[in-house]
Amino acid sequence: MKNITIAIDGFSSTGKSTVAKRLAKALGYVYVDSGAMYRAVTLYAMQKGFITISSFDKNDLIAHLKDIEIGFEFNEDLGFSEVFLNGKNVEKQIRTLEVSQFVSQIATVSEVRKQMVRQQQKMGANKGVVMDGRDIGTVVFPDAELKLFMTASAEKRAQRRYDELIERGDKVSYEEVLKNVQSRDHIDSTRKDSPLTMAEDAIKIDNSALSLEEQFELVYDLAKTTISKSQ
Ligand code: DC
Repeated sequence: MKNITIAIDGFSSTGKSTVAKRLAKALGYVYVDSGAMYRAVTLYAMQKGFITISSFDKNDLIAHLKDIEIGFEFNEDLGFSEVFLNGKNVEKQIRTLEVSQFVSQIATVSEVRKQMVRQQQKMGANKGVVMDGRDIGTVVFPDAELKLFMTASAEKRAQRRYDELIERGDKVSYEEVLKNVQSRDHIDSTRKDSPLTMAEDAIKIDNSALSLEEQFELVYDLAKTTISKSQ
């Protein structure tokens, strides 16, 4: 059976990674969370003091890009790959609201994007990959056989992200999570380099009213149909 490339793009907290992970597992494909890579670069910039509430030293970050190594390692217990920054597992650290508050700014930097896209294209070179992000169907894999674009209302997405953070024990308010979702939507869709847009040949899925199960079934059927058409 010939493998295909599946690109899942969309707004933040649309449940892309949940469905992408499950889809990759069901198909025996590799799952790549491209947002985690931008988050790892953000964590690095925060640790080095290149980005703070009041400043962003873009040139310092660009000069240090060569020192940033991002990797993924499959965790059998969790059933997905965790992110490593220069050899250190940062899976938990990159999911904080603090990182979310800086990541869209970091993702506007073209030099950062070039380095990430190059690595993402390498990871998907042999196909058999499900990758989620913002520019996967438009920039990283414009020839992907299946492109999905996920969307849901900002309120619904903020509620989902808020529930996740609370479950982890983070102290956040719903209002600040909603503000972050709206601000990231704005920065991600209006940046100059590779803004979040739907590829012309993508299938749009509004999952505001779909359960995780319904969404998975829909996406799985689409994948199966595309795979059989590609043989
Ligand atoms: O999917 P996520 O919320 O973890 O992504 C974090 C940020 O990274 C998001 O606000 C925009 C950026 N991003 C991007 O610019 N391009 C991608 N392919 C993936 C994420």
